[in-house]
Amino acid sequence: MGKASSLLLFLLGFGFFVVTYNLLTLIVHNRSGAMSSSPLLDPVVQMPNGKTKAASTPAPFHVALTATDAPYNKWQCRIMYYWYKQKKALPGSDMGGFTRILHSGNRDSLMDEIPTFVVDPLPQGLDRGYVVLNRPWAFVQWLERATIEEDYVLMAEPDHVFVNPLPNLAVGGYPAAFPFFYITPEKYENIVRKYYPVEMGPVSNIDPIGNSPVIISKESLEKIAPTWMNVSLTMKNDPDTDKAFGWVLEMYGYAVASALHGVRHILRKDFMIQPPWDLSTEGKFIIHYTYGCDYNMKGELTYGKIGEWRFDKRSHLRRPPPRNISMPPPGVPESVETLVKMVNEATANIPNWETL
Ligand SMILES: *[C@@H]1O[C@H](CO)[C@@H](O)[C@H](O)[C@H]1NC(C)=O
Ligand SMILES: *[C@@H]1O[C@H](CO)[C@@H](O)[C@H](O)[C@H]1NC(C)=O
Repeated sequence: MGKASSLLLFLLGFGFFVVTYNLLTLIVHNRSGAMSSSPLLDPVVQMPNGKTKAASTPAPFHVALTATDAPYNKWQCRIMYYWYKQKKALPGSDMGGFTRILHSGNRDSLMDEIPTFVVDPLPQGLDRGYVVLNRPWAFVQWLERATIEEDYVLMAEPDHVFVNPLPNLAVGGYPAAFPFFYITPEKYENIVRKYYPVEMGPVSNIDPIGNSPVIISKESLEKIAPTWMNVSLTMKNDPDTDKAFGWVLEMYGYAVASALHGVRHILRKDFMIQPPWDLSTEGKFIIHYTYGCDYNMKGELTYGKIGEWRFDKRSHLRRPPPRNISMPPPGVPESVETLVKMVNEATANIPNWETL
């Protein structure tokens, strides 16, 4: 029996509501010295523990995209894979192979279009309707069962579009991550301490990140993934934690799990942009289209109110968006215009776009 299946059996057999203390004592051996966070010298690249910035690691990384077989996930994956192929071929890219880790348990209609590895979903009920809890479990299974040539992995999501060739941003043993302004472990100290005890050091050891986008060595991810799964399920089962973290609970799960293993991340603000808030793609690597883009015809943002012009992935839950969606009005940020152009270019070139 593999490690992954014994972990799952453990969770099923004993329930995951066991005292977190047990989980933590098992991990403490790996703690690194507690250090206060370094002054923010570079506004874009923040190195952990005051290390000086270094060049990127010239080693290829595997792109790992976790997804389900829902139509909403499928059209996003097709666009994502299309742009991976375009940008991988360009100078400056350290992108290696690609795998869609399909965690709905069965093959689907994209098996021939996108390299795919099928893994099991969590047993029914365990995710309590929070589908993304399947992500850590998907990584545990994939890392255990797949042959991955590269030493590094990029954890990516379906609504990511590569806008520039992505180098390996991990440096000198430190993984690289995008810092999210809404992940604030210090604001939730009383909650976070249930999973990250005082002996481990200050709560500021927990990076303000989720699991994606992150470029990390396979070796570190193999250690973190089972803990990430464990911590996320334990958090989900604690009503106070569930209420405090809501839809970003699994991001805190990764942030805490990596801190428990003493892994700090290089925080890269240029890793990703999120239109409509970020205006330019220049020097950035990924466009994350998680927010709706709503504008009036004068090109003014009407966020929160349906715009005369809009692009929102959530308008396309059941089927793919049509090809050639209309360009935004003049005056919108370059990031929004580039996103729409890239979506249109991908859909124009992907065969059977609306029928598969
Ligand atoms: C998961 O947590 C349980 C207790 O909470 C612990 O016994 C088990 O070893 C943990 N597994 C991993 C891989 O962290
Ligand atoms: C896309 O739509 C525009 C109008 O919005 C039209 O002018 C153009 O010809 C269309 N392109 C294709 C390839 O269908």
